[in-house]
Amino acid sequence: MAMDKKIALLQDKIKQANLGGGQARIDSQHKKGKLTARERIHFLLDEGSFEEIGMMVTHRSTDFGMEAEKYLGDGVVTGYGTINGRLIYVFSQDFTVFGGSLSETHAEKICKLMDMAMKNGAPLIGLNDSGGARIQEGVVSLGGYADIFYKNVQASGVIPQLSAIMGPCAGGAVYSPAITDFILMVENTSYMFVTGPNVVKTVTHEEVTSEELGGASTHATKSGVTHFACANEIDAINHVKKLLSYMPQNCEEIASHLPYQSADETRPELNNFMPENASQPYDMREVISTVVDPDSFLEVHAAYAENIVVGFARLAGRSIGIVANQPAYLAGVLDSNSSNKAARFVRFCDCFNIPLLVFEDVPGFLPGTDQEWNGIINNGAKLLYAFSEATVPRITVITRKAYGGAYDVMNSKHIGADMNYAWPSAEIAVMGAKGAAEIIFKREITASENPEEKWLEKEKLYSDIFANPYRAAERGFIDEVIEPAQTRAKLIKAFKMLENKVVNNPRKKHGNIPL
Ligand code: HXC
Repeated sequence: MAMDKKIALLQDKIKQANLGGGQARIDSQHKKGKLTARERIHFLLDEGSFEEIGMMVTHRSTDFGMEAEKYLGDGVVTGYGTINGRLIYVFSQDFTVFGGSLSETHAEKICKLMDMAMKNGAPLIGLNDSGGARIQEGVVSLGGYADIFYKNVQASGVIPQLSAIMGPCAGGAVYSPAITDFILMVENTSYMFVTGPNVVKTVTHEEVTSEELGGASTHATKSGVTHFACANEIDAINHVKKLLSYMPQNCEEIASHLPYQSADETRPELNNFMPENASQPYDMREVISTVVDPDSFLEVHAAYAENIVVGFARLAGRSIGIVANQPAYLAGVLDSNSSNKAARFVRFCDCFNIPLLVFEDVPGFLPGTDQEWNGIINNGAKLLYAFSEATVPRITVITRKAYGGAYDVMNSKHIGADMNYAWPSAEIAVMGAKGAAEIIFKREITASENPEEKWLEKEKLYSDIFANPYRAAERGFIDEVIEPAQTRAKLIKAFKMLENKVVNNPRKKHGNIPL
């Protein structure tokens, strides 16, 4: 065959591959308000940067007349490209080919990409839209999933792994995204569950829609499985890009610094920010956004366990991770969900050399049977463990309450924080003055002619001694009590000072975080 004919054949095959399962199925995908696998890649990567790998792969199955039905690429588009100039590996499942279902070869393509991403130290992004295991293939498809899970674990902590769920994600298929670092879902067109509504109805007699069972809002608020619920696919893609901008390429690197022009770093408004009454709530996000670089805060898991706020930001152009108690929700108390949420975030930041900044205003752990029976002991221990093992630069600012075990857990000096600041409004004690007085002066209060008055008097006494940052500062548990207005300036200097921090935890195979 002459070269021009060979090239024409190649072009014909490329055209076929680009059509996936055919125009009719592409139209049907669009009608559902969804983009195709290739359109998603187009919007994700820098213009013209995508290089496809494995376009001509087809499945090998022969049962059920499958030999006669083959599509180039076999339901997943894989390759590499750049986002804002950075190398990224991406796979994008093509729902127009057997519903994006995972065959043996589909899995092989993803695994090959994961190997390349690990070898070359670049993030992996999965755009998931799949009916799950390719039913016609049986166990080889299940094996393919397991191969992916295994590699997800090998890659964990080596390269950032992000999963955007753009369609169905059911059965064991949910476990690959679950192992990755961040999940993003699209409202109304994506769902994740281990078993769908039909199985649920048969087994538990519950009637539930796919959306209620495993839609984006459900997982963003109730289960915490997804970190972001995005309005549409473009919003999800933009979130992926933003999220990546705070991360390095791999665990050996640090996230790139944005250029920063130093300016007046004082924030006088913070001196008048704290409510007079220590029981009055305020929104910690206001403190965060006043302290970090303008518009740089990207909240993660915003609608889940809102008593703790986590997210990425920049300080003088440097990427940092923030963990902050939220007095505006449940008074900022630590409970099981907030401890889990924060622990996972701390571990991500530590994996990828992202320094940690903690804002603390916490009245303690949430009491009650619900918490105890749901394992607040183990869950709280996760956060304690996560902070304790983190070797990245770690700074805490106590804005108000730091009570009880929560004082220790929230990145205290004792568990390895590098710099601990307190505002003059800080109260660092075993518990609030009212509760403390009731316990330690019980006899005096009950014996008094006016118990209420006695209680108030003792509360004041306890409060005068402990409801301040100075007892902790005397011991060096607090490095400096600072004016709120100076917070940003202090943090910029301290993070710069900690830039070359080196800490080596004792050699071990791996620790045993209480799961
Ligand atoms: C092969 C599949 C498929 C699958 C869908 N298709 N799922 N082909 N294996 N798992 C095909 C359909 O035959 C159809 O082909 C096309 O994809 C689109 O499917 P529709 O049903 O027409 O689309 P829709 O109405 O949007 O419904 C999508 C769906 C539904 C909800 C995903 O297809 C579905 O329920 N599929 C089965 C899901 C499932 O039970 N998967 C196994 C889960 S267990 P045509 O030719 O008409 O275009 C699992 C185990 C993993 O995944 C274990 C890992 C440990």
